[in-house]
Amino acid sequence: MAALKQAREIPQNINEEYYQISTEILSSFPKYRPPVDLFTFRDDIGVLAPYSRKGVRLSNEQVEEVAQLCSTGDLFVSRTDHPIYSRHIVKQLDLVLQDHNLKEAEIADICIRALLMRYTEFHEQPVKSLLEPLYRDTMVVTEYLWQDKHHINAFVRRLFRKHSPGRHAINSFSIGLWLWMQITGEYRRKDLDRLALALLLHDIGMSKVPAFLLQKAGPLKAEEKEKVLLHPMLGVKVMQKLEIAFEELLRACFEHHERLDGSGYPQRAKSGQISRVGRLSAVADSFSAMICQRPHAPAKQPLEAAKELAADPQRYDAEMTKLLVSVLATDGFGQFVDMDKSADTSE
Ligand SMILES: [Fe+2]
Ligand SMILES: [Fe+2]
Repeated sequence: MAALKQAREIPQNINEEYYQISTEILSSFPKYRPPVDLFTFRDDIGVLAPYSRKGVRLSNEQVEEVAQLCSTGDLFVSRTDHPIYSRHIVKQLDLVLQDHNLKEAEIADICIRALLMRYTEFHEQPVKSLLEPLYRDTMVVTEYLWQDKHHINAFVRRLFRKHSPGRHAINSFSIGLWLWMQITGEYRRKDLDRLALALLLHDIGMSKVPAFLLQKAGPLKAEEKEKVLLHPMLGVKVMQKLEIAFEELLRACFEHHERLDGSGYPQRAKSGQISRVGRLSAVADSFSAMICQRPHAPAKQPLEAAKELAADPQRYDAEMTKLLVSVLATDGFGQFVDMDKSADTSE
């Protein structure tokens, strides 16, 4: 089937604006009411012609014809329908790896939105039934990152600049994994999976801290502060209860507020006592927090945040923070995409 599709020569200008829709994606749509406009390729005039409008009911004959057109690579979707398409595929993330017509930017956008949705649901209610979809989608994303380590760059270009627990988790995931890939030469798929989950879930203990404390604009009272300071331990407890308590995950939860000079919490651990994952999640966590607008602080530019961390080698791992500064100072990630404002993924 795939060979058939590739056999069809599509003029370049069409490829920019439309993409062939795969049978897997088509079969995931409601059969009689596809949520996107469909187009077919007209061999005789070499252009695409509208076939059906989104949401309009297809007849039985049309459903058959659509399936046929799709199997020969003659069915297309406009890239302007990407937001709808992306909302659809976000809920069945495994499809993202089967669709070879998506661009790297579109894949990163869809993966991030899926992780954001799954993480947010889990954070609101940290129970096993909501951990499973988050776990499953994280494994889809790590599969994609495993295929080519450069894929992570498109994720880093999509950092969020407004705070929410989910956005913070995704930012920490993207920047933390990028850093980890740079400083780790060879790694196994299993290590990547574990690191990805550890970075995403480092702040899950916050789900047990009353939300109003986290949104409070003024300084916290002593007893309020105490509750927030408990979140590393609470994170460990949540994950242990759900029985996916592997070493890297527990370290990320427990150590991401520890600082090399012993000024952190909860243990006031010093450099030698803090694991590599702990140091990595500290950098990823602080960087992610600094670049986001929060009730008590405006968002910093990524380079400014990285420089601030690098200027503090007493507390933050200098190898990691210097790497961040050097990539950001040379625009190494390319143009950042504003994830908060639109679903636009053009690059
Ligand atoms: Fe935290
Ligand atoms: Fe955090």
